[in-house]
Amino acid sequence: MAKVYKKFVVANWKMNPLDADSAVKLFSAIREQAVRARETLVVVAPPLLFLNTLTRLGNDKNISFGAQNCFWEEKGAYTGEISPTMIKGMSADYCIVGHSERRALGETNEMVNRKVRAALRNGLTVILCIGESERDAEGTYLEFLERELHEALASVTKKQLSQILIAYEPIWAIGGSAERSCAPRDVHEVVILIHKFLKDIFRVSAALEVPVLYGGSVAPENTEKLVREGRVNGLLVGGQSLIAANFCKIIEIVDSLVL
Ligand code: 13P
Repeated sequence: MAKVYKKFVVANWKMNPLDADSAVKLFSAIREQAVRARETLVVVAPPLLFLNTLTRLGNDKNISFGAQNCFWEEKGAYTGEISPTMIKGMSADYCIVGHSERRALGETNEMVNRKVRAALRNGLTVILCIGESERDAEGTYLEFLERELHEALASVTKKQLSQILIAYEPIWAIGGSAERSCAPRDVHEVVILIHKFLKDIFRVSAALEVPVLYGGSVAPENTEKLVREGRVNGLLVGGQSLIAANFCKIIEIVDSLVL
């Protein structure tokens, strides 16, 4: 039976590195650390171009692969798109959907929902990204997050809940050094709310078990506080996942923490 992981560290390489050799080198360093973890799953989401090369190196212990996006149709005349079936065919089990950098290019909640449903239908586990662009004292950003969740998860069934992870990535916290990240207390507040919203949507207690990750300027320096005080099940890491030593440190710290 497949091991059930409680902790996750996801590498979103975005549009990096520039060539396959660098991707293999980076992945090999990450793998060395990942296989030593006790209870953490490391998900590597490279550019799709490198996915096949990396999955052929082996789906080692504690390692899974993910795509950074997918399309909602299975096949056909959709120039430039990649379907969940193709992703699954490359031995990837995860798919990031609704990343803010894709939403900034025009992806709507409705499109995110179609992608979520297609990915789930094809047996992928979805890492659904939500996050506000700014925080206001009145708390309207919380309504924004609720709407993102509701609309992205429309028509998703209770049974599919076990294939979903939510990544809270406040847009204002992405792409900086450790100081820019969201305060752990504020992360914790959102984790509680995400579980409440999921419970409202699905009306089953399993909604409270859906893993919630945090992303946005994660670095070795803020990893422990974000996970321990933010009470997340793991982290979605951008920039620092491209620096092998730093990403390995993040894996090591997350794995050492008792949730
Ligand atoms: P950074 O870790 O570079 O802030 O990126 C976060 C992110 O967007 C991961 O999906």
